[in-house]
Amino acid sequence: MKETILLTGATSDIGCEIYKNLIDTYDIVLMARDPKKVTNIYSNVPYQNVVYANLEEPENTKQILYEHLNNNDIIINHFIHCAGLLQLEGIKSITYKNQIRIFNVNLFSAIQIIQVLLNKKNRPFFSTISFISSLWSIRGTKGNSIYASSKGSLNSLCINLAVELAPKIRVNSILPGAIITNMSKESFVEKNIEEVNKDYLLGLGSTSDIAGIIKFIISKEARWITGQNIIVDGGKSCK
Ligand SMILES: NC(=O)c1ccc[n+]([C@@H]2O[C@H](COP(=O)([O-])OP(=O)(O)OC[C@H]3O[C@@H](n4cnc5c(N)ncnc54)[C@H](OP(=O)(O)O)[C@@H]3O)[C@@H](O)[C@H]2O)c1
Repeated sequence: MKETILLTGATSDIGCEIYKNLIDTYDIVLMARDPKKVTNIYSNVPYQNVVYANLEEPENTKQILYEHLNNNDIIINHFIHCAGLLQLEGIKSITYKNQIRIFNVNLFSAIQIIQVLLNKKNRPFFSTISFISSLWSIRGTKGNSIYASSKGSLNSLCINLAVELAPKIRVNSILPGAIITNMSKESFVEKNIEEVNKDYLLGLGSTSDIAGIIKFIISKEARWITGQNIIVDGGKSCK
């Protein structure tokens, strides 16, 4: 029998690539907020394999997920938190409301989901947690402090959960550099892509670079890797 993955951010470019890369090996339960997007992107996904929740509301998300898994008798072996909310805005002007929205989606919803997956019924089968963090959690950029600190918190959560949940559950955080997708293209608009490319020893990344590392990190081949913040950035951080 296939193991089952729970994937947030299923409608993101990176999330879709993770789905494509892993669907032959695993069953995948998608988490998303927009039924139209899900229908456009995915065909033939059974209704019980999609959980609709707004991650800006972590407590609701927890309740919805708990009920969905219980009602459909679903066990989750791997959790991949790929959803993310990016808002570039200076520290003086970003509202408290938006700070909370970003932390809810990027960090707190993941914590609520993990609490559900650690319940008595699921815990014995639960084996990996992977966060899609960001290289910018460990690099400074103007206007990025809230997003970056929410991703930095994911890195700390990773290290601490790895200790708390070992040896049964492995926890890792992936820190991608720039990958051109819907989310990142905004920040490239004003820059020459050629210029950005020069910063990366191996050029800019693609969604499959991230899906590939996720496939490895949740596999048995990575059984001795936990608590790691893994930079996947085409060598940008070497310079
Ligand atoms: N692209 C890069 O260069 C890069 C670099 C480093 C890290 N990352 C990280 O990689 C992950 C995927 O990003 P992407 O670049 O592929 O971007 P994206 O397409 O903008 O993805 C964001 C995802 O998060 C979901 N999301 C946002 N707010 C949500 C909410 N309130 N409730 C439920 N879902 C919500 C979005 O759902 P909707 O489709 O409904 O909006 C979408 O699936 C993100 O965590 C991002 O921070 C990306």
